[in-house]
Amino acid sequence: MKAVAWHGKRDVRVDTVPDPSIQEPTDAIVRITSSGICGSDLHLYEVLGPFLGEGDILGHEPMGVVEEVGADVTGLKPGDRVVVPFNISCGTCFMCSQGLHSQCETTQVHEQGKGAALFGYTKLYGEVPGGQAEFLRVPFGNTLPVKVPEGPPDDRFVYLSDVLPTAWQGVRYADVPEGGSLVVLGLGPIGDMACRVAHHQGHRVIGVDLVPERLERVRARGIEVLDLREHGDDIADVIREMTDGRGPDSVIDAVGMEAHGSPGAKIAQQMAGLLPDSLAEQLMQRVGVDRLNALYLAIDIVRRGGTISLSGVYGGMADPLPMMTIFDKQIQLRMGQANVRRWVDDILPLLSDGDPLGTEDFATHRVPLDKAPEAYETFQKKQDGCVKVLLQP
Ligand SMILES: NC(=O)c1ccc[n+]([C@@H]2O[C@H](COP(=O)([O-])OP(=O)(O)OC[C@H]3O[C@@H](n4cnc5c(N)ncnc54)[C@H](O)[C@@H]3O)[C@@H](O)[C@H]2O)c1
Ligand SMILES: [Zn+2]
Ligand SMILES: [Zn+2]
Repeated sequence: MKAVAWHGKRDVRVDTVPDPSIQEPTDAIVRITSSGICGSDLHLYEVLGPFLGEGDILGHEPMGVVEEVGADVTGLKPGDRVVVPFNISCGTCFMCSQGLHSQCETTQVHEQGKGAALFGYTKLYGEVPGGQAEFLRVPFGNTLPVKVPEGPPDDRFVYLSDVLPTAWQGVRYADVPEGGSLVVLGLGPIGDMACRVAHHQGHRVIGVDLVPERLERVRARGIEVLDLREHGDDIADVIREMTDGRGPDSVIDAVGMEAHGSPGAKIAQQMAGLLPDSLAEQLMQRVGVDRLNALYLAIDIVRRGGTISLSGVYGGMADPLPMMTIFDKQIQLRMGQANVRRWVDDILPLLSDGDPLGTEDFATHRVPLDKAPEAYETFQKKQDGCVKVLLQP
C-alpha cells in the first residue's frame, strides 16, 4: 500500500510499504477514505524528529470502511463505515471506564513512562503505524472504532478522530461559567473548532491569532477576533478592556509548544535538531524547549480565579513557569490529550442535522495521498489559505 512516512525534518514521503494484516483476533483492517493532517503532525515535521524512526507512518485522524475483521470482532463487519480515534484505547480498563481514554492502562507506553499509545505518533507513544495510508490496522475492533451512518460526506464525521473531541474537551475543561467569557488563543483547526463549540453553547468567545484567513474564518461565524499582529504587546490590555477590566473567565491555549515568539526557545529547538538523535532526545527530554508565549499570555489575561485549558501540546521537561503569578491569581489549570472516545456520544448529535459546527466546509484542502509532501509544506507555511488538509487515499 501507499503510506505517508517520515524521513527527516520537513521530509515526509509517500512510500510503498506492506499492507497491514490482522495480528490479534480483535483487530480490524480499515480502508482509509479520508485522513487529516494535524497541527500535532507539524511538531513531528519540525521539532520531534529525535523521537521518530525513518519510515514511521504518520497520521492519526483517519476514517474509512472496514475491510476485514479478526475472529473475535463482533461489533463490526466488513463494509461498515468507521472513524478511528487517535488514542488507542481498550475501552474496558480502569482508566477507560472513567472516560480517561488517553491514559488507557492496556496501551500505556511503559518504557517511555507515557499514557495511551497513539496512532502515528513517535516512539514516546508506541511508534504505531498511522492512518495517512491506504489501510490501517486498528486494535480493539469491538470498542475503539466509531461506527457512523452512510449518507453524509466524510467531512461530517472525520473530525471525530481528533479535532472535535479535542476542541470539545478544551471547552469542557475551560469550565466557562454561565454568561461567562472565553478567550481562545490560536485559531488553527483546534482553536477554530473550540470557538465554534463554545459559541454554539452560548458563551461569549474571543479568538486570537496572527494569520488573516484564520481570523476571518472565525469572524465569519459571528465570533469576536483579535489580530496579534495589530495589538502586539498590548494584546493583554486590549483583552482586559473587553472583559470588564478583569480578564476572561476562561482561556483555551490552542497553540502549544511552537508558539510565535520566544526566540531563545527557538534556538534551543534548532540546536536539538543539529545533535545526533540520542543526544537530541536527551536534551529535549531534560531541558525545556517549548516556546511558551501563548501559555504566558493565557496566565497574564485569565481573570483571578479563572481557568486555563491547554489543548496545545507541550513537551519540555523544564519549562519555566511563573508559579508566583499562577498561585497568586488562583488559576485553575487543566490539560491533556483528548479522551476521544469519552466525548463521541456528546458530539454525534451535532453531526446529524444541520451541521451547526460547519464541518462540511471546515477543510480548506482535499488532496490525494500522493500530494501529502506538498500538503505538509503548505500547511506548515500557512500558504494558500491552508487551515485543514484532508488526504483522500
Ligand atoms: N490535546 C490534544 O489531544 C490535541 C489534539 C490535537 C492537537 N493538539 C495540539 O493543539 C495545538 C493546535 O493544533 P492545530 O491543529 O490547531 O495547529 P496549528 O498549528 O494549525 O494552529 C496553531 C495556531 O496558533 C497560532 N499561533 C501561534 N503562535 C501564537 C500566539 N503566540 N498567540 C496566538 N496564536 C498563535 C498559529 O498562527 C496557528 O494558527 C497543537 O499544539 C496541537 O499539537 C492537541
Ligand atoms: Zn490530530
Ligand atoms: Zn483502556
